[in-house]
Amino acid sequence: MTDRYAVIGNPIGHTKSPLIHGQFAQQTEQDLRYIAIEGPREPEGAFAEAVRSFIAEGGKGLNVTAPFKLQAFAMADESSDRARMAGAVNALKFVDGRILAENFDGIGLLRDIAVNLSRPLVGRRVLLLGAGGAARGALLPFVEAGPKELVIANRSVAKAQALAEQVNGKGSVVRACSYPGLAGEGAFDLVVNATSASLTGALPPVPATVFDAEGLAYELAYGKGLTPFLRLARDAGVRQLADGVGMLVEQAAEAFEWWRGVRPPTRGVIEQLTVPLQ
Ligand code: ATR
Repeated sequence: MTDRYAVIGNPIGHTKSPLIHGQFAQQTEQDLRYIAIEGPREPEGAFAEAVRSFIAEGGKGLNVTAPFKLQAFAMADESSDRARMAGAVNALKFVDGRILAENFDGIGLLRDIAVNLSRPLVGRRVLLLGAGGAARGALLPFVEAGPKELVIANRSVAKAQALAEQVNGKGSVVRACSYPGLAGEGAFDLVVNATSASLTGALPPVPATVFDAEGLAYELAYGKGLTPFLRLARDAGVRQLADGVGMLVEQAAEAFEWWRGVRPPTRGVIEQLTVPLQ
């Protein structure tokens, strides 16, 4: 029987996941069907019920997107370290009546940066903007990639500090900083915008001095062209700019491999979904 998978979110109309996983399945000759489900926001417990009926109908796994990442975490029987650190999950797997939870957003981001964009983090100075869900997801994979320094900047510095403290046991390369404080930090090899500012066309108040012309500026949002953050980086002379399309496809590939035990090729799908940065 054809195995069933889906992405669940609300709204879900914009999702690229069925296209991505459909291509992965074709390329790896896996017999599966992948659809989009609009999950219920209300009443309380309705999301968990929707997941349970998907399982009852033979569902093998789900990708989870906004606003359900925390609820998915709460209903899991088993969570990976990455999911626990992020406090959120973006993928579920159903095995022998148990719900297993993962968060591949951070590792997808890291793979895109280190492999696709040829920028391994080891020994580098990294600046992470934001301390919300997206930044939390990225933090553990980033620390494990061995940067020389990892600075988290956030409007609410206390949130950035709390994040830094959470990973301090893994080494003391991580510290928090305010946006004004970044003026004294010099240039970074990699600047990642993990704030939600670009969703509203806003710009995190980051000084242009954080950019290195030879470095990489990475915007987590995708398909929005040159966001205010990427424009600032370009105007500061940064030659390598990227948005989150590669991260989107790489996190999907991680989930696909987790579910199916086969790693799909990603380059062709990334090229197909790329919107020029102009
Ligand atoms: P997500 O899941 O997308 O990370 P979130 O958990 O709500 O969303 O976190 C949003 C992040 O974007 C936060 O770090 C927020 O900063 P504060 O914690 O100081 O509020 C950041 N953010 C949102 N809009 C911003 C803006 N215009 N400038 C700078 N940071 C912004």
